[in-house]
Amino acid sequence: MITPPVVERRAPRGDETPADAAASAPAGSDTARTSTTELRQALPLVTVRDLEVAYDGRTVLDGVDLDLFPGEMVALLGASGSGKSTLMRSLTGFAPIAGGEARVAGHDVVNLRRGELRELRSHVGQVFQQFNLIPRLSVLTNVLTGALHGAGPLNLVGGFTSAHRRRALELLERVGIAHKANAPARSLSGGQQQRVAIARALMQRPRVILADEPVASLDPRLADSVLGLLREIATQDGIPVLVSLHVLPLALAHSDRIVGLRHGKLLVSDATSRLSAESLAVLYQQEDGDDHH
Ligand SMILES: Nc1ncnc2c1ncn2[C@@H]1O[C@H](COP(=O)(O)OP(=O)(O)OP(=O)(O)O)[C@@H](O)[C@H]1O
Ligand SMILES: [Mg+2]
Repeated sequence: MITPPVVERRAPRGDETPADAAASAPAGSDTARTSTTELRQALPLVTVRDLEVAYDGRTVLDGVDLDLFPGEMVALLGASGSGKSTLMRSLTGFAPIAGGEARVAGHDVVNLRRGELRELRSHVGQVFQQFNLIPRLSVLTNVLTGALHGAGPLNLVGGFTSAHRRRALELLERVGIAHKANAPARSLSGGQQQRVAIARALMQRPRVILADEPVASLDPRLADSVLGLLREIATQDGIPVLVSLHVLPLALAHSDRIVGLRHGKLLVSDATSRLSAESLAVLYQQEDGDDHH
């Protein structure tokens, strides 16, 4: 069964960190954007240590260390095939972990208890390049499906309470497309569909958001606005957002921190303010032997 959310903003949880609280401050107040130093004092919601992922004996992630802190927007860069999607998939138990540790929102991904996988996935909001909406269903219903995470099999029709509907509408308001609530998802533009997908992820009340190339199908203006929205969510809700990108200027403009993979190894992890396009070029250099990897 679904526990209907009672109020729009979640109540403080017992495990809420100081940065959660700080990041929950009203937008526009002095504390709305938490400094990196403050974030670092909070406990990470994602901790990855020496992570190795292998497909059929071939290592595709090798010794990866990563922490994601409440409220930070982290861009994940790397050439095609470097392991970005695999890293994201490993955080939700979709990749074959061969070694190391991964903890996500309190779950030990490497040693999940029976039945814990569903709970883990309900704590992770995911946003994809192709939006993954159900085209013939209304925008509102698509957002409501976010509430099904962790709920088990549930009839789509009549399975939602009025509190769910209220919350879904509030989220559509927040992402700027409440006026499209009753339109079929397929009738929306790409940018609008990605906003619906983000509202659907928020419907889960996620502890962490993973966005795998969320703007790869959008024009530059829409890409900016969708990344702006994700960063606003990170800041205001105290949720870490990990977003993989192929466009360096977008990463530099919209992230607090950049991490970069090359051949499955994490070569870059630094505050965005300390990085430049030149310093990131190492991630994309062609080398002799690349094809043998
Ligand atoms: N299911 C799978 N089975 C076998 N190999 C896989 C599988 N998924 C990914 N790989 C391999 O793992 C490596 C990393 O792939 P991944 O999709 O994580 O790269 P990526 O950085 O997301 O690339 P892109 O930028 O093209 O999306 C690649 O060599 C890929 O072929
Ligand atoms: Mg990928």
